[in-house]
Amino acid sequence: MSKLSLDRILQSQGFGTRKYCRALIEDGDVSINGDIQDSYKTTVETDGLVLEVFGEEWKYRQHVYIALYKPANFECSRKPSHHPGVLTLLPEQFTWRDVQPVGRLDHDTTGMLLMSDDGPFIHAQSSPKRHIPKIYQASTHDPVTPELVDQLLSGVQLHDEPAPLAALSCVQRGDNLLEIVLEQGKYHQVKRMLAAAGNHCSALHRSAIGGLTLESLGLAEGEWCFLEQAQLDLLVP
Ligand code: URA
Repeated sequence: MSKLSLDRILQSQGFGTRKYCRALIEDGDVSINGDIQDSYKTTVETDGLVLEVFGEEWKYRQHVYIALYKPANFECSRKPSHHPGVLTLLPEQFTWRDVQPVGRLDHDTTGMLLMSDDGPFIHAQSSPKRHIPKIYQASTHDPVTPELVDQLLSGVQLHDEPAPLAALSCVQRGDNLLEIVLEQGKYHQVKRMLAAAGNHCSALHRSAIGGLTLESLGLAEGEWCFLEQAQLDLLVP
């Protein structure tokens, strides 16, 4: 249980600066259970709180955990250079509350991207010690061969890695399609592993992280949803 003043609550939810949030409240744009709250000093219990801002409901969340179905041609970097950033796919509140991608997908990779404003969560999920399996569908330029699958399973040497990296699982799903499960999250790992094994990745999609699949979330490309505790539990290895 924790009580906070209304201006702090609005600011924590990403509605803007403290000054702007105070103005919203004083202008009568914020209600709770249908009652306009026009004093920013009012303290409110945050547990289970649902605000109405400009008539729209907003559930208070101390932190947000989001899954985005990333389309191609969006960048995960904080300062995107060639394509729009993934944050442009989310409501503006999330930029204000410093939501960030958990790890990265390349600009041309599609699929599940986790995002959050919970620093320790981001850190834990991105940690190489965590060994969270990630499932990728990789289209290949040259047809898949049993030798390619064997090589990816037994390990390929990448230039800047001390030891060969192996897929946890690798299954042929089509003439030019592989399903690869990796538990590391090295830079361009799938593409570099395929290149090191003598093929080329022509398209890449991430369909699952841990036990959480994109399909189970029912998201279309470009859509996002909040993740609740039961879904977050599936991310633990
Ligand atoms: N491996 C890659 O090569 N690219 C990605 O975006 C993710 C994994």
